[in-house]
Amino acid sequence: VPDVTIRHAGIGDISQLVEMRRALTLEDEDFSADRPGYEGDCTSFLEEAIRGGRWHIWVATIGAMIVATMFVELVDKVPRPVPEHRHIAYLTNCYTRPECRGQGIGTRLLEHAQDAARAADAELMLVWPSQRSVEFYRRAGFEGTDEPLTWVAG
Ligand SMILES: CC(C)(COP(=O)(O)OP(=O)(O)OC[C@H]1O[C@@H](n2cnc3c(N)ncnc32)[C@H](O)[C@@H]1OP(=O)(O)O)[C@@H](O)C(=O)NCCC(=O)NCCS
Repeated sequence: VPDVTIRHAGIGDISQLVEMRRALTLEDEDFSADRPGYEGDCTSFLEEAIRGGRWHIWVATIGAMIVATMFVELVDKVPRPVPEHRHIAYLTNCYTRPECRGQGIGTRLLEHAQDAARAADAELMLVWPSQRSVEFYRRAGFEGTDEPLTWVAG
């Protein structure tokens, strides 16, 4: 897709990410109003996540609009006295706005997430897929039959 930029999220992206997290939740569950505190909790979480080194938050943008996002948390492995990968990568909050789906944007974001996880010395990536997204992850190399699917960085 032309004009789609993929980059790390910044503090200025937080309000869109809070809204997209709400939209992702609403696709699975019917709710009529936010839990009190959602906006504040999610905003604080994102501020910390963006400033810290543990989360890689990827966004695909067209102009000022975020059209898709993916979050990867690098979980530390305890060091061992033999050569060992440093992290396990946990993939979550994968969301493309409905009107932008099926154009390969999610696949491009996932490729970025996988490249970055490999570069950060992750051993593998885990995702708990929704029923409909299993094929999407399989095409990107994720394997497994029971949840979670895992992608071995190789
Ligand atoms: C999964 C998702 C991020 C893919 O983003 P995308 O930008 O459409 O990705 P691509 O265009 O690269 O891939 C399209 C594939 O996604 C899958 N897909 C399409 N609609 C989907 C939906 N509503 N939910 C889940 N997966 C979907 C299909 O496998 C599709 O392939 P197809 O067009 O051959 O059927 C996006 O569909 C989405 O946000 N879905 C709703 C939220 C969700 O299920 N997230 C994953 C939770 S773990």
